[in-house]
Amino acid sequence: MGDLWLVLRKFVGNARSVATVAPSSRFLSRAILRGIDWSKTRCVVELGAGTGPITEHLVKTAPPGVRLVINEFDPDFCRLLKSKFPTADVIEGDARALGAMLARRGINQVDYVLSGLPLTHFSESDRAAVIDQTGALLSPDGEFRQLTTAPWLYRGLYRRYFRDVSFKLVVRNVPPGGVYYCRGPIPPRERTAA
Ligand SMILES: C[S@@+](CC[C@H](N)C(=O)[O-])C[C@H]1O[C@@H](n2cnc3c(N)ncnc32)[C@H](O)[C@@H]1O
Repeated sequence: MGDLWLVLRKFVGNARSVATVAPSSRFLSRAILRGIDWSKTRCVVELGAGTGPITEHLVKTAPPGVRLVINEFDPDFCRLLKSKFPTADVIEGDARALGAMLARRGINQVDYVLSGLPLTHFSESDRAAVIDQTGALLSPDGEFRQLTTAPWLYRGLYRRYFRDVSFKLVVRNVPPGGVYYCRGPIPPRERTAA
């Protein structure tokens, strides 16, 4: 209940950046990790971790040796994440500076970027900044995965940035949502205009 109240309180204070009234359900949290081949995975980055429903599954599921980096820019959420997951590498910072945040940790390649960021509320240039930095970091088989509570609506949007975009609906979430699975980042100069 504590996490739900914290998210609700933050939503009332800043609806655009929190963008949801409840933490992701365990069904949505599992869906964003679906099918990850852990034997080939060295580094996973989570963006916009909030109260940590996805982090919880990530920390439980990832085998030892896989590097996990958890990012969130709200200080209260960061404090909670650090107390819940004392061994996790939680970075308090803005995902729009993703490349620099990871460079400071000596990370220049990532296998999965799992995003809970409200990217559709970002300006076009801020959204492109996050996705371009992600594209530059992803390993050749790497994947960007984006949570949504607007099923299918933004598939076209993510197709502007990635060659291969699929979607999985998750009805057992408040509100119903899903995950976009995005592979093959399209370099900015090859993208069609918005
Ligand atoms: C929709 S909530 C998702 C929270 C959590 N991942 C979940 O599934 O319940 C979006 C989160 O992104 C964070 N956020 C928004 N903009 C951000 C930014 N530029 N950098 C880092 N975190 C950001 C918000 O503080 C919020 O915790």
